[in-house]
Amino acid sequence: MEKIKFSAELDVFESKSELPDHIQALMNDAIVAREKAYAPYSNFKVGAAILMENGEVVSGSNQENAAYPSGVCAERTAIFYAGSKFPEMSMKALAVTAKSLSKEITSPIPPCGACRQAISEYEVNQSTGIPIYFMGETGKVYKAKSIKELLPFIFDKLNL
Ligand code: THU
Repeated sequence: MEKIKFSAELDVFESKSELPDHIQALMNDAIVAREKAYAPYSNFKVGAAILMENGEVVSGSNQENAAYPSGVCAERTAIFYAGSKFPEMSMKALAVTAKSLSKEITSPIPPCGACRQAISEYEVNQSTGIPIYFMGETGKVYKAKSIKELLPFIFDKLNL
């Protein structure tokens, strides 16, 4: 019997202002998107912004539903819109931020499992990783250089 081990690496930025300028701008777009979240059930607003290869930014927010599982996370709202609007175009970076209406979120909020799987589909289809920057409302920003850092041993089309 042998063991397989996975390891992950994240870069830690002390705050949004430490980010490179274009990523700071992308995070600001995610903040604007976050404020447009429809989250009356969780009061947890999430915004996501994706920088496309042509420089355009596609953003989205979580959209909840009275039938709870019918709601969609911010990351999937944004990435499915990006895939629909710019099929075949690669994605250069993804920024995510979350804010709760009941307390200040000071630590980074990572994408949920379903969003990781959705992001991986697009990353597998392009030749480069999609760096993911994520934060709460304030505080540190974590960067994963690829979805593989957050979702090792991905199930993808090569498994079919
Ligand atoms: N949510 C996101 O938008 N992204 C995530 O990765 C985690 C969770 C949303 C879903 C739901 O509307 C609210 O946050 C609380 O779970």
